[in-house]
Amino acid sequence: MRKKIVAGNWKMNNSSYETIKLLNELIEFNFSKGTRVIVCPAHTQLGIAYEKLKNSNIEVASQNMHFELNGAFTGEISAKMIKSVGVLTSIIGHSERRVFFNETDQILTKKVETAIKENIEVIFCVGEELSIRKSKKHFRFVQSQLENSVFLQPKKSWNKIIVAYEPVWAIGTGETASPEEAQEMHFFIRSLISKKYGSDLANSVSIIYGGSVKPNNAKEIFAKPDVDGGLVGGASLNSEDFAKIVNAF
Ligand code: PGA
Repeated sequence: MRKKIVAGNWKMNNSSYETIKLLNELIEFNFSKGTRVIVCPAHTQLGIAYEKLKNSNIEVASQNMHFELNGAFTGEISAKMIKSVGVLTSIIGHSERRVFFNETDQILTKKVETAIKENIEVIFCVGEELSIRKSKKHFRFVQSQLENSVFLQPKKSWNKIIVAYEPVWAIGTGETASPEEAQEMHFFIRSLISKKYGSDLANSVSIIYGGSVKPNNAKEIFAKPDVDGGLVGGASLNSEDFAKIVNAF
């Protein structure tokens, strides 16, 4: 069964004090169980967030993880480390990791493999830059991102994979893909999953949209049949805005 999911990607924001304040506000909303609500704080706040939320129905995910479990990788965090503070989900392949930290499809494939092996659920991000959309190669581009990473995984791994379509031109820009553009790409991604793994699996994978999701556009985007929720950046830093997005279903 496809799950509705709204995940807040806090990126490099929020001190411990701000984290606790925001989480206290979110707990008050007492979200209904119909939607999975996830927050993705910075690594230093993962443990605090997990402890604070463990009796709520808000989950915690990491924004990233390394493909090795330990070793000489200064500044990195491993699957074992995030698991040790109770966190069992990680974003992998966010466009900011791809662009600013040179994470290639090969690196992301290794990360996905490690995550699955370690029983970590993956929110795997794909999405094209503006020049690619303008040259009308966005479908081919997203297809290659999938084929070079998550499509290399066996069918049984897919109960641990959520796909996030995040057109790079819509992230943090205030520009959103129209609900129709989002639907078109989500339908395309689901069709690819269906061709590769069968329709039963395709119909069970959640595909969420990210890129300037706000309280005033979430409802229309989430209403599309192949959009199962959102990966929310900026608007997830404000509890009321985030709650309005969660409640947009
Ligand atoms: P945004 O970020 O909502 O601020 O556009 C989304 C994301 O990067 O996940």
